[in-house]
Amino acid sequence: MNGVLEGKTAVVTGAAKGIGRAVAEALSAAGAHVVAVDIDGDGAAATAAALASATAKQCDVRDEAAVGRLFDEVVAERSRVDVLVAAAGVARVGPLVGMSLADWHSVLSVDLDGVFLCATRAAAAMSTTGGGSIITIASIKAFGGSPAIGHYGAAKAGVVSLTKTLALEMRDHGIRANAICPGWIGTDMVFDRTAELESALGVDMGAVIGHLQGRLGEPAEIAPLAVFLASDRSSFCSGGTYVVDGGATASLV
Ligand SMILES: NC(=O)c1ccc[n+]([C@@H]2O[C@H](COP(=O)([O-])OP(=O)(O)OC[C@H]3O[C@@H](n4cnc5c(N)ncnc54)[C@H](O)[C@@H]3O)[C@@H](O)[C@H]2O)c1
Repeated sequence: MNGVLEGKTAVVTGAAKGIGRAVAEALSAAGAHVVAVDIDGDGAAATAAALASATAKQCDVRDEAAVGRLFDEVVAERSRVDVLVAAAGVARVGPLVGMSLADWHSVLSVDLDGVFLCATRAAAAMSTTGGGSIITIASIKAFGGSPAIGHYGAAKAGVVSLTKTLALEMRDHGIRANAICPGWIGTDMVFDRTAELESALGVDMGAVIGHLQGRLGEPAEIAPLAVFLASDRSSFCSGGTYVVDGGATASLV
């Protein structure tokens, strides 16, 4: 899909590493100017430095004022926002019963509130320039119970609902919104939590992932779908949820 994003400005949150970084690289390879955003400013800068045309912004997606400033700056510098990929996220491990409200919020504040803030500010900016494409990175955890990561699953279910509502509310402004729902992908989010998950669930996560989806997915296996959804080639795709999980949700076994 070389050149399909030529002339477009794409904001990618969570761009310092993992899925966000892979998406930033793929959008750039397709011709977009990428605004690489992360709470880790050095990581965002490293991503931007590796791309053909990119700028880096340090921003905590939980901070309403900072997210407002982020989109004001992008519009001032680029005159438009064509694409948002909301990939910033965190995961924590713990059963719901006994979980403090602070622990619940530690995940919801990034994974749901952060998407709400970025997606609505992006949509407001897009509506002044004829439209755009909003892509949220949800998860297959949106579709079922998520033992030991119930706050994460609730946030992702919220992201899917929020994405569908945005697609409907903003259709007349030329804005499309779609959610990508990955299965288990090999990033620090998974690697850093594997031991905790195994202890909480009493299972070998390697075996579970192998059984469900054959293997861990790669961040670069999510990115091409983001390029397609960002581009005008997906002009009739809106309000969708796109599962990329190696077949994990296809089986009842
Ligand atoms: N890895 C998986 O198996 C998997 C599966 C489904 C969905 N996802 C989702 O994909 C997205 C990317 O996850 P990943 O696996 O690449 O994780 P990752 O930990 O590799 O990257 C997450 C990025 O988000 C950034 N971030 C965290 N909190 C932030 C904040 N408050 N403000 C701005 N940036 C912040 C981090 O600094 C990091 O660069 C997340 O939304 C995650 O929930 C991941």
